[in-house]
Amino acid sequence: MIKIAPSILAADFSKLAEEVKEVEAAGAALIHIDVMDGHFVPNITMGAIVVEALRPVTKLPLDVHLMIENPNLYIEQFAKAGADYITVHVEACPHLHGTLQLIKSHGVKSGVVLNPHTPIETILHVLDEIDLVLIMTINPGFGGQKFLHSVVPKVKQLADIIRERGLPIEIEIDGGINEETIIPCVEAGATILVAGSAIYNAPDRAEALRRIKAAGEG
Ligand code: DX5
Ligand code: ZN
Repeated sequence: MIKIAPSILAADFSKLAEEVKEVEAAGAALIHIDVMDGHFVPNITMGAIVVEALRPVTKLPLDVHLMIENPNLYIEQFAKAGADYITVHVEACPHLHGTLQLIKSHGVKSGVVLNPHTPIETILHVLDEIDLVLIMTINPGFGGQKFLHSVVPKVKQLADIIRERGLPIEIEIDGGINEETIIPCVEAGATILVAGSAIYNAPDRAEALRRIKAAGEG
């Protein structure tokens, strides 16, 4: 069983509530919210007020992907706004273990994100602190980029470690996911797949979501 997490980065921001309800009705499992600060990544998107506005709109878990520097300063805000998952980039967290504890102290599920070049070794000592690892298959900052196939072996490497250790950690993939690229990701062990443009830029979002999910489930 795989879960599809539509990224609202590719949605129409002038009618965000409807955009979220549409993918919920179509079978989305989580709503992926891309937070960018213009420093960690060269783009600015949305903050905790958007999470707060969407909280009453959907029953789905809100999966907040923080692409920001100094995430510790904002974790409480996002938790209070209604985030169910908060994921932070390893590359932005010099005190990663403490940051993960901070997320958990607010009763929110915690996750770490690895950029395409960042090795699994950087998170081996925090696996007991996390619910989720998000592996980027693009360089973060923008939707609509091409999937980086070179990252897939890293997904498999992590899946093997998680299995060997018997840990209840989910693997999420983000970037360039569509009906084709989802297949190697699921084969490698991913269970949550983010898709932005492949869903929201499709003429029929419900159909696109179902097709991507069906492709992943083989
Ligand atoms: C990029 C974001 C992704 C993005 C994915 O930095 O983290 O979640 O929205 O968009 P697609 O699916 O279009 O690659
Ligand atoms: Zn994302």
